Amino acid sequence: MRFDVLTLFPEMLGGYLGQSLLKLAIQRGLVEVHTHNIRDWAKSKHQNVDDRPFGGGPGMVLKVEPVVECVEAVQAAASPPGRVVMLTPQGRRLNQPLVAELAGQGRLLLLCGRYEGFDERIKEILRPEEVSIGDFVLNGGEVAAMVVIDAVIRLVPGVLGDEESSRQDSFSGERQLLEFAQYTRPREYRGHKVPDILLSGDHPRIARWRAEESEQRTRERRADLLDDEE
Ligand code: 6GU
Repeated sequence: MRFDVLTLFPEMLGGYLGQSLLKLAIQRGLVEVHTHNIRDWAKSKHQNVDDRPFGGGPGMVLKVEPVVECVEAVQAAASPPGRVVMLTPQGRRLNQPLVAELAGQGRLLLLCGRYEGFDERIKEILRPEEVSIGDFVLNGGEVAAMVVIDAVIRLVPGVLGDEESSRQDSFSGERQLLEFAQYTRPREYRGHKVPDILLSGDHPRIARWRAEESEQRTRERRADLLDDEE
């Protein structure tokens, strides 16, 4: 799986890319992440990538030429050209089904905006998949791009260890329930005890308890996830 991140702030990705799971996936050749500075496609080094909005108003707008030319050059530099994903609060809200859909692509171009947004013609020309990570406003698409990469690589075969990937199967499969409560040693801390059933060794009962716990938590905290079920 290859990601190309197109941004005005490529250095924002650095710390994230050096992180253990992703670093390992990159070292194993399962994932590639390339960053590209949109500013490198400005007409001259001093020419800006942003400009004032026609019609007036606050802030600046990302210009059409450097963004379109950056995307075209990055697409042409490797094959397949890859699906263009534009990170914007106006996009389709990211959820696990969309993550799975994105993971099915061999290559994704993640286009990160800044300022008041993208010149509308960027969307008309590139026809990107517009994606939002939630109903709030970020200062730019970079953090959202890292969210997309982080969620998508978990679904790339081989990136997670066996233990985690099988766990993934049971919870991110047909039913999207919240996870049950987890405990580890000690059995008691400041009077807070681990539920007896988890210490019982009765695995069929433990499995039932966990399933009920998941169901109840989901009902209490995220009834919308249950409403979505048929
Ligand atoms: Cl993808 N970008 C920005 N700038 N803000 C957001 C977002 C994306 N998703 C939620 N808020």
